[in-house]
Amino acid sequence: MPVIGIIGGSGLDNPDILDNPKDLFVSTPYGSPTSPVKSGTIAGTQVFLVARHGRDHITPPTFVNFRAKIHALKELGCTAILATTAVGSLRQEIKRGDLVVLDQFIDFTRRRPVSFYEKFEPHSPAHTPMAEPFDAALRDRLIKSCEKNNYPHHSAGTVVTIEGPRFSTRAESNMFRMWGADVINMSTAPECILAAEAGIPYAAVAMSTDYDCWKTDEPPVTWDEILHTFKQNVEKVTGVLQDVIAGL
Ligand code: ADE
Repeated sequence: MPVIGIIGGSGLDNPDILDNPKDLFVSTPYGSPTSPVKSGTIAGTQVFLVARHGRDHITPPTFVNFRAKIHALKELGCTAILATTAVGSLRQEIKRGDLVVLDQFIDFTRRRPVSFYEKFEPHSPAHTPMAEPFDAALRDRLIKSCEKNNYPHHSAGTVVTIEGPRFSTRAESNMFRMWGADVINMSTAPECILAAEAGIPYAAVAMSTDYDCWKTDEPPVTWDEILHTFKQNVEKVTGVLQDVIAGL
């Protein structure tokens, strides 16, 4: 039986999508996830939901305890993780409200624990392959759900994760475009990396909430804009999650 972990990002901090919700207070060798884990079911499947930044959105990206979150989901027996994330668009054709099923990341973070390994076993270094960081089968299901529901979407996209909490300068935004990034956020690294180290298949559905500041014909992004766009389109994200989990 599948057991699904959901990591809810900005705009989906405390969604009401689980049947029979209960709070679990979990601790791990890496500390506690910021908020309790919400346990419940979707279409009869056991689901554990964690709010990436805490339910009240109090944890800045640098201080999110990614290791505690992934470790907790592993200990709870999760066989797959579906993450949601608000992203800025680095491409004209990725419009506000579009969904992007991420297939690559560029890690531009600087100050986060990026691994569970603080020490290797003697002569047994753990260098996790990362060429295809997102799970192909889960991505396929996310894409099929977007197609079925006619949600405007992009079936692949490279996300660059920045340290934050500040937004990028225009020079950085242009550089990320030249590097081949399609969207930008503050969370996919190291979350995706840690899921891979923990051996949990992981996929992320991103919602484009703004054009990052490379686009000079509109005012630079604000947090209020991100939240507003996400809230206006949130049912697309919850719809896709519910669809995919029901089909697993
Ligand atoms: N999340 C949503 N929009 C973003 C942006 N423009 N930069 C970084 N993270 C974001």
